[in-house]
Amino acid sequence: MKDNNQAKQRIEELRAEIERHDKLYYVFSDPEISDREYDELFHSLEKLEQQFPEFMDSTSPTQRVGESIKSFDSYSHRKPMLSLSNTYSKEDLAEFDRRIHKLIPDEPFEYILEPKIDGTSVSLRYENGLLVQALTRGKDNIGDDVTANIRTINSIPLHLSDMVPPAVLEVRGEVYMDLYGFAQLNEQRQESGQEPFANPRNASSGSLKLLTPREAAKRPLDAVFYASGEFDGISFDTHEQMLQSFKNFGFRIVPHFWHCKNIDEVQQKLDELENMRHKFPFEMDGGVIKVNERRFYEALGYTGRNPRWAVAYKYEPEQAETTLHAISIQVGRTGVLTPVAELEPVQLAGTTVKRATLHNEDEIRRKDIKIGDRVIIEKAGEIIPAVVKVVSEKRTGLETDFSMPTSCPDCGGNVIQHEDEVAWRCINNLLCPSQVKAGITHFASREAMHINGLGESLVVQLVDSGLVKNPAELYTLKKVEVLGLERMGEKSAENLIEGIGQSKQRPFEKVLFGLGIRHVGKGAATILANEFKNIDALMAADVQKLETIRDIGPIVGKSVVGYFQSLETRAVIDQLRVAEVNFEQAETGGSSELEGLTFVLTGSLETMTRDEGGDKIRARGGKVSSSISKKTSYLVAGESAGSKLAKAEALGVTVLNEEQFVALLGSDEKLEDQKAGQMGFGF
Ligand code: IVH
Repeated sequence: MKDNNQAKQRIEELRAEIERHDKLYYVFSDPEISDREYDELFHSLEKLEQQFPEFMDSTSPTQRVGESIKSFDSYSHRKPMLSLSNTYSKEDLAEFDRRIHKLIPDEPFEYILEPKIDGTSVSLRYENGLLVQALTRGKDNIGDDVTANIRTINSIPLHLSDMVPPAVLEVRGEVYMDLYGFAQLNEQRQESGQEPFANPRNASSGSLKLLTPREAAKRPLDAVFYASGEFDGISFDTHEQMLQSFKNFGFRIVPHFWHCKNIDEVQQKLDELENMRHKFPFEMDGGVIKVNERRFYEALGYTGRNPRWAVAYKYEPEQAETTLHAISIQVGRTGVLTPVAELEPVQLAGTTVKRATLHNEDEIRRKDIKIGDRVIIEKAGEIIPAVVKVVSEKRTGLETDFSMPTSCPDCGGNVIQHEDEVAWRCINNLLCPSQVKAGITHFASREAMHINGLGESLVVQLVDSGLVKNPAELYTLKKVEVLGLERMGEKSAENLIEGIGQSKQRPFEKVLFGLGIRHVGKGAATILANEFKNIDALMAADVQKLETIRDIGPIVGKSVVGYFQSLETRAVIDQLRVAEVNFEQAETGGSSELEGLTFVLTGSLETMTRDEGGDKIRARGGKVSSSISKKTSYLVAGESAGSKLAKAEALGVTVLNEEQFVALLGSDEKLEDQKAGQMGFGF
């Protein structure tokens, strides 16, 4: 690019294009391009901005992550940030409705019902279309300026998507962490010896209060917007119109809302919403009911900080009481010792719960948990539930204190507590059977080497029988050896050996993830594989070199270098090399069999998650959308597909069941899954 003007124009085009794709992806869940194509656009922009620094602009999509700050400034909200009064019963709701009818008698209006998301409320101010400030609710109408962290949330637009934006627009909504992101973050925190967050709400507010935007950017934060603050140069007649307009500006709004003609209908829809409670990817603690017609808001007024035109209806927290019989210790992949409560089985949110995490020793002390206690357990976005508190009134005096073991309960090795960590760790990494088993299970998992049928229970048998001591030894396993294991038939043994053999074709990034290097998750593994191309180059890199890579920080850098310095791991790498596991990143050239086709996935699939299904479609050039329209080519319907299936049928969209979908994806996938079915290992 020779000419400065040309460069400037191209930079502006690329920025606008990237913002357009962000909106399609985050707001409409209807991406037009693959992740790889998006990354290419992004890299082109980064390159041009480096080449022509005179055109750099802090509002460029490449500039989301800014410098660290020392403390948060605080500012007053220009319009008070209102809250909601809570109702817990249908009677309370009827009272809310009666009050409204009394204040605006004979006026026609309807209600909107939305899910109530349990996160952290924020107010974002846009001036002439540009994000200028993000404040937390704070106290006494003064909020903390968390703009630097808010800018790192990719689904929040830095510019309003409108040619003529309003002079001022303040949007208010909820920053939250979805349940999957929350579970992963807590797992990582536990493995690195940090205190886990008690619930997704604490995780989101804690993340907004980080002083390092680079760290905040790594937190899986998202946001939806549902209310207005100050605005100028725009108006909204109804709440629904405002939501629509937020969406057009590039904001995510609640995933679903209902129109209700009267309070009876609200109550009916609240039951519907409650039944959907576990279908939302975020923690939902109730419904919010709002008068749709904004012209009545002034007449309805406020009580204190709560508007009379809106109310929250809170669902009961899902808790149960049971007895804690014992505390066992689970040793994780990196040696962290996690205390786990062994409970009298109890029903909670539709499942029987027998165990609950106690996180770490500090948590047991803080909650004063003793063996034999009656305890309250809750599901708060956890995969396994947590113990909330002890029912101390029910103590008999027979309860006993728990203390952490002074050696590893599995291998008897030393346990240590690092200076800045709450967790105790067994340091016997390569010899501790629990760590070895967890490491091999991780290596074989779907996200890593995807060895069908090699789940935790088989790994336990392989290690306990002395057949396998590390992931590399899987590749020297013989059928006769496997046949000697409990409940192992001829066919299953054959399939296992074949599955292990096939895993040698897995891409380098999956192998790297499978090695289980501390702090190297899927994302970092992909970045490292793309950057270094092969294991030798990666093993030769020092911390300095690693740190220069975008999104690889000093913690990952040190961990990678430390991992490859160990003679034991080098021996495992050598064995894997001999086994001809893929240690080289292939040059990617996407295929295009599904080009021009748009898919919607619904219900639960058995052989893959919906995300994985989406990846497979995109890898073949197809598009994935979250909503059905006449443009949809296929609806892939798994188990318990609901309204989308009905809509597809009504619109005449072709519906594929999982088997047909797998067939469409291609023969290699079909082969793998058929085999898994024959093995009978839970597929
Ligand atoms: S409306 C004046 N809508 O719940 C209206 N709030 O308990 C202001 N919240 O402060 C709020 N989901 O942080 C509204 N769909 C939703 C919501 C919602 C979650 C939070 C919000 C609010 C709190 C009140």
